[in-house]
Amino acid sequence: MRAARIGDLGANPIEEITHETAIWTFQLLLATLAIAPIGYLTTWHRLMPARRMVGLFTFFYGCLHFATYVVLDWFFDVEAIVEDVVERPYITAGFTGFVLLIPLAVTSTRAMVRRLGSRRWQLLHRLVYVSATAGAAHFLWQAKADLRRPGLYAGLLAVPLGIRLWQRPIAFGPVGLDPTRKARHEVLPEPVENGGEA
Ligand code: HEM
Repeated sequence: MRAARIGDLGANPIEEITHETAIWTFQLLLATLAIAPIGYLTTWHRLMPARRMVGLFTFFYGCLHFATYVVLDWFFDVEAIVEDVVERPYITAGFTGFVLLIPLAVTSTRAMVRRLGSRRWQLLHRLVYVSATAGAAHFLWQAKADLRRPGLYAGLLAVPLGIRLWQRPIAFGPVGLDPTRKARHEVLPEPVENGGEA
């Protein structure tokens, strides 16, 4: 949003706003996903309480990105938006990624963690990996020619995703890097008032 602050959004401001909100959404999503593996691999868990806030920032920027599309691209033309989401696969992927962030933001409060129970809450919040994968597909798909940046971001996303799968392979049971370290990694960050994690 630096460009908006200095009043220089270039020749195509809508494209610039879409780009800025998109990149911030993806970078914040990557930052959210990086926090747990950093704690897991280094045993330095000081960043864990920040994960919730970074997750909420991700959702906030996702909302800005989606709002740019709804308001500036389509000016609230719901029919055209539905058609676009259904017909253009890269928009379908982005929409899926965004929609999956909603339950995570909604269940981010202390009360929701308590209501769902830690186990169910953690299972639900694994949707963040599905959301990020949809976001990466969306990014790769919309790129016209130069795949370097979307490719780099997809590669960066593969790191926490790979660690997550290695740590607890879905199909083969709990045989991770070091099962004794799992409990610390899995500890929920202390919920904060009106805070949450995407
Ligand atoms: C997890 C959610 C999402 C992420 C991480 C994400 C990320 C991105 C990224 C990285 C770009 C490329 C920006 C650029 O290089 O200029 C992009 C472009 C775009 N996104 Fe998203 N996006 C998400 C959700 C959505 C949603 C929900 C919509 C609308 C339904 C949407 C519509 C668009 C559009 C229209 C573009 C521009 C494509 C173009 O220039 O042709 N995105 N998004």
